[in-house]
Amino acid sequence: MQVPFLDLKTQYKSIKNEIDPAIQNILDNTAFILGKAVSDFESSFAKGHNVKHCIGVSSGTDGNHLALWALGIKAGDEVILPANTFIATAWGATLCGAKPIFVDCESDSYNIDHTKIEAVITKKTKAIVAVHLYGQPADLDPLREIAKKHKLFLVEDCAQSHFAEYKGNRVGGLSDSASFSFYPGKNLGAYGEGGAVTTNSDELAKKVKMLRDHGAVQKYNHEMLGHNYRMEGIQGAVLGVKLKYLDKWTEGRRKVAQKYIELLKGIESIILPKEMNYAKHVYHLFVIQVKEGGNKRRDDLVKYLGDNGVSTGLHYPIPLHLQPCFKDLGYRKGDFPITEKLAECGVSLPMYPELSDDQIVYVCDSIQKFFIG
Ligand SMILES: Cc1ncc(COP(=O)(O)O)c(C=O)c1O
Repeated sequence: MQVPFLDLKTQYKSIKNEIDPAIQNILDNTAFILGKAVSDFESSFAKGHNVKHCIGVSSGTDGNHLALWALGIKAGDEVILPANTFIATAWGATLCGAKPIFVDCESDSYNIDHTKIEAVITKKTKAIVAVHLYGQPADLDPLREIAKKHKLFLVEDCAQSHFAEYKGNRVGGLSDSASFSFYPGKNLGAYGEGGAVTTNSDELAKKVKMLRDHGAVQKYNHEMLGHNYRMEGIQGAVLGVKLKYLDKWTEGRRKVAQKYIELLKGIESIILPKEMNYAKHVYHLFVIQVKEGGNKRRDDLVKYLGDNGVSTGLHYPIPLHLQPCFKDLGYRKGDFPITEKLAECGVSLPMYPELSDDQIVYVCDSIQKFFIG
C-alpha cells in the first residue's frame, strides 16, 4: 500500500465543484490582487478565530515579518522565539533587523519553555514569539505574564494552528498580533502562497494594511515605508471556499490522531504526541519520537517506512540555533537539548483528514513490524 505524506488531490476533488467557479469568477472579473474575494475571506477568517481584524497577505513568512514590523520592532532589538520551529519564525525578527534569541522547547508540548525565557531577557528585548507548533497552542498564560512583567509584546505564530484552541479560545487573537500561513499543505491551504495577520487592535490593523500595500492608504501617497505583501484574489477565493470545511477537516485530523495514538500506544520504543490539558490540538503534524538509538535508529525507521510505501517528514532536522545562517549568533550543539533530541529522533507520520482507516492501520502495522517484528 502507498501512503503519501500529504494528499492535496483528494481534497481538491471533493470541493472541485465550488473551487473551479470561484477561480473562474476571479478570472472573469480580473480581480487578481486583493478585491472582494480577499476582503470576504478576511472577514470570515477573523470571525472564525474570534479576532477583530484579519489582513490577508502574501505568505506566512510575510505575516511573521508584518506582525513584528507593525509593532515597531527594529534594528538593535531582540526577539525571543523557540529554537524548535520552522525558519520563517526567525525571519520575522531578522527582516525587521532584530536579533533572534532562541529558547528550548518543553519535552511534552514541544512548544517554547516559558521557564527559560526570563534568563535571556535583556534591555534590548522587545517581543516574545510563541509558535503553536505542530497544531498545539503554546502555554500562553505564563507567556502573557512574562510579557506584561517585562513590558514586551507577545506575538503568535499560528502558521500550523488554524482553529486550535487555548483554554477554549481560538488562537490568533490571544496576543498583540499573530500571523497565519496558507501554504498549500497547511490545515487551511491556498493554491499558491498566502498568509494573514490577525489582531484585536484597530491601530495595528490599520498599520499592517498600509505596510502590506507600500505604506499607503491612498494609491501613490506613501505615508510610511512599506512593501508589497498583498494577497492575490485567486487565493482569497480558494480560501473562502475552503474555510467552510475547516471545522470538518480539523475534526478529521483529530480522529486520525486518536486512531494513531490508539494503535501505537503499545509500542515502547516510541514517544507519542501529547495533547496538553489547556489545548485543543489541530494536528497539522503528527510527530513521534524514537526513544533510543538516536539519529541512526530514526533514519532506519524512515527508510523502512519509505521502502514499504509510507512517506514521512522531519520537522525539523536542524534546529534554528544550529542553522549555518545563524552561526554568528554563537550558539552551540548542546545548548537546547530537548529541541536537539527532537531533531535527531522525531518523525512526522502522514497526516490529513482524508487518510483512510486502512492507511492508518497500515502505517501503524509497519511501525510495529519495524520495532517488534
Ligand atoms: C511555524 C511556521 N511559521 C511560518 C511559516 C511560513 O509560512 P509560509 O510558508 O506561508 O511563508 C511556516 C510555514 O511552513 C511555519 O510552519
